[in-house]
Parts: sequence; structure tokens; C-alpha cells
Amino acid sequence: MTAIPTTGRARTDLMAELSARKEGDRDWRRGRLAVYFYWLDEELERVQQEAYLAFWTENNLGQRAYPSLKSIEDEVIGMALSLLGGGDASGGTFTSGGSESIFLAMMAARNKARAQRGVTQPNIVLPNSAHLTFDRAAEALGIEARRVPIGADLRADVAAMAARMDAETVAIVGSAPNYPFGTFDPIESLAALAAERGVWMHVDACVGGFLAPYVRRLGHDVPAFELSVPGVTSLSADIHKHGMAPKGASLLLVTDAADREWHKFESRAWQRGPYAAYTTQGTRPGGSVAAAWASMNHLGDEGYLRCARLIMEAKAIMTAGIGAIPGLDILTPSDLCIFVWRATDPTLDIGKVAAALDAEGWLVGRQQEPDGIHLHLNPIHREVAEDYVAAVARAVAAARGGRGPRIGANERTY
Ligand SMILES: Cc1ncc(COP(=O)(O)O)c(C=O)c1O
Repeated sequence: MTAIPTTGRARTDLMAELSARKEGDRDWRRGRLAVYFYWLDEELERVQQEAYLAFWTENNLGQRAYPSLKSIEDEVIGMALSLLGGGDASGGTFTSGGSESIFLAMMAARNKARAQRGVTQPNIVLPNSAHLTFDRAAEALGIEARRVPIGADLRADVAAMAARMDAETVAIVGSAPNYPFGTFDPIESLAALAAERGVWMHVDACVGGFLAPYVRRLGHDVPAFELSVPGVTSLSADIHKHGMAPKGASLLLVTDAADREWHKFESRAWQRGPYAAYTTQGTRPGGSVAAAWASMNHLGDEGYLRCARLIMEAKAIMTAGIGAIPGLDILTPSDLCIFVWRATDPTLDIGKVAAALDAEGWLVGRQQEPDGIHLHLNPIHREVAEDYVAAVARAVAAARGGRGPRIGANERTY
């Protein structure tokens, strides 16, 4: 067990040790990871770091002390609402990440249904491609999560979801896009179903929120998923994903700001006076909201379009290159920045291909169903798209030729 040192250490000594410890980490700056990071260029990196440092220790819980943070946060929410179809009545909450945004949405849906419909045994109905963070939220909130198999088109099966709903259903969910396949669920149909049954409809646009609108502007076919779709109650969008901000930045947006009250905690059951929060966090880092604001303002629409273009170019190069390698196939459809490839040749062990890629320094995401390899692209992947295809070709040759190690589909690679 490590103890706090008796004598404090000098700053230079500590920084040297931290750098040394990083030496064994994967090289995300060179685009060798298919998960966990988003990077455009050094100028954006400096903007993020300097903005974060400007508020590095301010507590965003204390907005009465820091009106600056309140105005910055309001602008971040406003920019997102204008991008994502918010109307005059819409509102939002800045959170620590997609999981917190989703937790708050599920909490609000449960609380609203309990108050207005007397629901005591709440359930949510979601496609089985939805992120597992919904199940974690459901477990903590005492909600049953009903996962419904998706269709052969890799999208939510609306009729099957309707069949699993009952009087105790508090919310239904669709992704824009989901993480396993990168496909959009039919948000318009799901939202219409939610409206007809009078339940909360949450759109998980954690991945797509800050990318899909720009991919659409480039001319790609992106279905409607925004708050403006009739029947949508809330939408999660992560600024720390394709909003290109550093970690600790997501939004839960609602079509009707009054619905924020359902995820508000308020009490005065102690000596100190009233306490209220719309998030699960109490103390909140000012740096992450400042860095999100700076990233959005630095990039602007032009910067986000550039990110979208780089990602779609990388995807086109990678899918064409991998698809041309004998024995491999790209899973379709895939609507945005995520895709899965796999072996169609039964003599080719994709687990060995994964291990060979890993040995070259590419951090591999293994897909369980179908047995394959999962990629989530960000702008830096444009620079390595050709290298990746060449590495895949070498990995396939190595897997065919030798005994070698393998990375199984059920190993934890997320
Ligand atoms: C579609 C989707 N929803 C939710 C999440 C959870 O977001 P976070 O990891 O920021 O909590 C992720 C994370 O990858 C995601 O891909």
C-alpha cells in the first residue's frame, strides 16, 4: 500500500515522474487507438488546456461566486440547443459525461411517471444495442431495463419495443447512433410511439450530437434525431466526444425546460440550509465548462465541418481498404463514425488478427456480436487511415501464417 510521503516532493521531480510513467501508454497522438480519445490538432489542444487552466480550481457548484461560469455554461447549453433543434421552451444541463446525462434522463423519467401516473414498478424499454450505461442507471434507480433485440438492419425494432411496453413503462430509448454498430435507430417512429403512449423519449446522441449535424451538412444521409422531432423529450450529447472538448463535458438537453425539475434534488433536511442540484455531482470542475466553451468557439461550424470531413474520409479509405482484403468484410449499415469489420473466411481467426494488430501498437476494440473488430473514428484517424489498412493486411497475413496469440471476443476491450 502506498502512503502519502512524509516530505513533499518538488514540482519538477513530480512532473518528470509523471512523464516517465506515461512512457508505457498507448500513443493516442499517432491515432493508434480506436476508442477513448478525440484529437484534431495542437492549436485545439492548446485552446483546451489554457481554457481549462483559466478555471482549473473554480467550483461550478458556486455560480453565485462565479457569474463568469454561469454565463459560460449558459452559452454552451444555448449553442448546443441551437445546433440540436431546441425551441423556445427548451433547456439543458451541463454534466460530467454521457453516463451522467443518461442517468439524469432516466431519473427524470421515473420521477415524472411516479408523480403524474403513479408508477411504482418502473421499466424502460430500449434496443439491445443501447449503451450499457442505461442498465447501470436503471439498476441504481430501481428501474427494470427491458432490452429488445434489434432488427436485421441493426436498428431498433419499433414494433418489438412497442410490444414490451406496458402501463409501468416510464421511458423508451433510441440511439443516434449506437456504440456497437454506429447505426441510427428510427428516432421519428420511436418518438411517435412514445408520444402515443405518453412516456418519456430519450435520444442518446452522446456520440452523434456534435458530429451528425455536420455530416449531414456534408451531404450524407443522416435521419432526423434532434429535439425538434415530435415526441422527443430529452437528448444526451457529449461535448467531450465529437464536441472535441477535454473530458468531463456532456449535456442533457430537454425539449421543455420544465422537465429539468424532475432530475433536481432539493432539500433542507440538515442544519446548513437549502441545498439544490440538477446534477449527480455537487462540486463541479469549472475547467471543463470553460474548456468546452473554448473548444466550441474555437472550432465554430467550420471547424466541426472539418472534423466531420476528416472522419468521413478516414472511414471511406478504411472501409474500402479493409473490404478489399480477401477474407474480410465490413458490417453494414453504419451511419457515422463507427464501423465493425470481421472475417468471412472461416479459416481466418479474427482473434489472431486482433492480437497481431495489437502487437504493432494498435489498440484493438473487439466486437462480441458478430465476432469482429470495432472502430470509432475521430479526426486524427484521417492521418493514419492508409497505415491502418496496411497494418490490417499484415495482421491477416500473420494470423494466417502462424500460431500466435489471440484476443478473444469476450476479453474486456472497452
Ligand atoms: C452511445 C453512447 N452513449 C453513452 C456513452 C457513455 O458516455 P460516457 O463514457 O461519457 O459516460 C457512450 C460512451 O462511449 C456512448 O458511446
